[in-house]
Amino acid sequence: CGIVGYVGPQSALAVVVEGLRRLEYRGYDSAGVAVVADGAVVTAKKAGKIGNLDAELAAHPLPVTGTGIGHTRWATHGGPTDANAHPHVSFNGRVAVVHNGIIENFVVLRDELEADGISMTSQTDTEIVAHLLGREVALGVELPSAMRAVCHRLHGAFTLVAVDAEDPSRVVAARRNSPLVVGVGQGENFVASDVAAFIEHTREAIELGQDQVVTITADTVEVTDFDGHPTKVRPFHVDWDLTAAEKGGYDWFMRKEIFEQPKAVADTLLGRYDADGALTLDEIRISAAELRRIDKIVIIACGTAFYSGLVAKYAIEHWTRIPCEVELASEFRYRDPIVGPTTLVVAISQSGETADTLMAIRHAREQRARVLAICNTNGSTIPRESDAVIYTHAGPEIGVASTKGFLTQLVACYLLGLYLAQVRGTKFGDEIALVMEELAAVPAAISGLLTEMDPVLKLAADFADERVVLFLGRHVGYPVALEGALKLKELAYIHAEGFAAGELKHGPIALIEDDLPVFVVVPPQGRDMLHDKVVSNIQEIRARGARTIVLAEADDHEVDAFADVLIRLPKVSTLLQPLVATVPLQVFACELATRKGHDVDQPRNLAKSVTVE
Ligand code: G6P
Repeated sequence: CGIVGYVGPQSALAVVVEGLRRLEYRGYDSAGVAVVADGAVVTAKKAGKIGNLDAELAAHPLPVTGTGIGHTRWATHGGPTDANAHPHVSFNGRVAVVHNGIIENFVVLRDELEADGISMTSQTDTEIVAHLLGREVALGVELPSAMRAVCHRLHGAFTLVAVDAEDPSRVVAARRNSPLVVGVGQGENFVASDVAAFIEHTREAIELGQDQVVTITADTVEVTDFDGHPTKVRPFHVDWDLTAAEKGGYDWFMRKEIFEQPKAVADTLLGRYDADGALTLDEIRISAAELRRIDKIVIIACGTAFYSGLVAKYAIEHWTRIPCEVELASEFRYRDPIVGPTTLVVAISQSGETADTLMAIRHAREQRARVLAICNTNGSTIPRESDAVIYTHAGPEIGVASTKGFLTQLVACYLLGLYLAQVRGTKFGDEIALVMEELAAVPAAISGLLTEMDPVLKLAADFADERVVLFLGRHVGYPVALEGALKLKELAYIHAEGFAAGELKHGPIALIEDDLPVFVVVPPQGRDMLHDKVVSNIQEIRARGARTIVLAEADDHEVDAFADVLIRLPKVSTLLQPLVATVPLQVFACELATRKGHDVDQPRNLAKSVTVE
């Protein structure tokens, strides 16, 4: 979910609704706002996207005041209805609250409130917070103290933002687990799930820590812990501006982000060599001695980030000879994994806020593993709770389906692999330099590839009625196949599956029938028979009637005879091929979803960053 709060001289309603629009990628099951006017809180909320809220506000305008809060929802407790939309208002009408997270003990608290004669109007866990706060303020407790008292009673993950009708100068917010940042303006202040909500007003921000309560007025920002003790905060400057968070002439953020990939990859590579030609990752706060003692790497991530981890395994094991496992973050801690002080846990997360990944690294740290985060969001929770971080420099990624986030995660994984190889002496400087040189050429290769997307766009035009699509790859082409399939699921709502090409004959080949479209990622020619094995796999499926869409290097003519459609890739070495092979699959999914009339940036049921487990 996305949440916003504002106090200042502007119309709170306008600021909050605009902020919600920029946070909509975090969830779009419903949207709502509350403003404080003449001693009362007034709310407007609607199921569905913000457009529905706009229509509601146009029909029933809210008063113009300087204090307000808002919410855009990814539903957890209770369906996406008007009644379940936030803000929720307390029984006495004084307090309105919005919430991101899940309150795990809400049943106990709801029973307590009901026993007290308070009846619920929604099925949400959030409504109980409104009533608990309402009860406190009715007793004369000021909203910041009321918030601290209520937070002590809540279990689970929650970021809350509240207003009190009788105290219109303040917005009070609390944070446990789910993200929250403060925007510090001139004579106005903001709170929000991320800086995109207020970037057009201020680029000065404050990071909030775990279990903190912040009270903003137009001129002040006060942060305490849940016991009311003032706490230290870390101010930071946001180094991107509004244009980065706008579509800039593209139909979708996703398409814009696909085209930003050459720059995102180049930026992520920038400044990684020191004056002596040695690879440096200055955000690594784990000593070289410790890195030499590492005897196992476990990569944890979700969704697209997980697939970047699968690619990383091939590169890291090859370059460092350290055994490397890759695991879905949501599975990790529940199977009692074997990790300890000599394990390096690598958490990959674009947002740095994914709850599954966060909980997994907390578990890893409890087992005394060292944790390194690969993350695109400066100051987010996962890097803050890690021993080291490699930031990707993709800039804000707004499209829900990850594109430049993924490619820059791959770059960061390669850098980590090379760095470990350097520290442990498993690769020499000149070998590392060679890979770095190759990486440096990738942005131009992607730019060139992006100018040759006509066959891909044309292909999308033929796919409107396809129900099933398969993707095959071997080695690092296998995670590319998985990512290609995920993109089609997410965006085109097509049942798509990725398989290891060699595994096909052990079962999935039974799915092949006349005209079934199968994408095949062909490795570069001439390495370990890998290429030839995949060419044989293409023939196996062709023999059974499949329609083959083959992604192969520009001068690979061995595949020509077996390809119904050929998509040419620039030449790169095998391990780096995912950096180019993924791109046409992203373009294809984006184009197909556009043709099917889907909302490409906000696919159904999804959210950009899922802050619940
Ligand atoms: C959500 C998004 C996916 C994303 C995953 C992991 O489910 O819909 O696109 O890959 O989260 O996100 P992260 O921010 O941790 O990389």
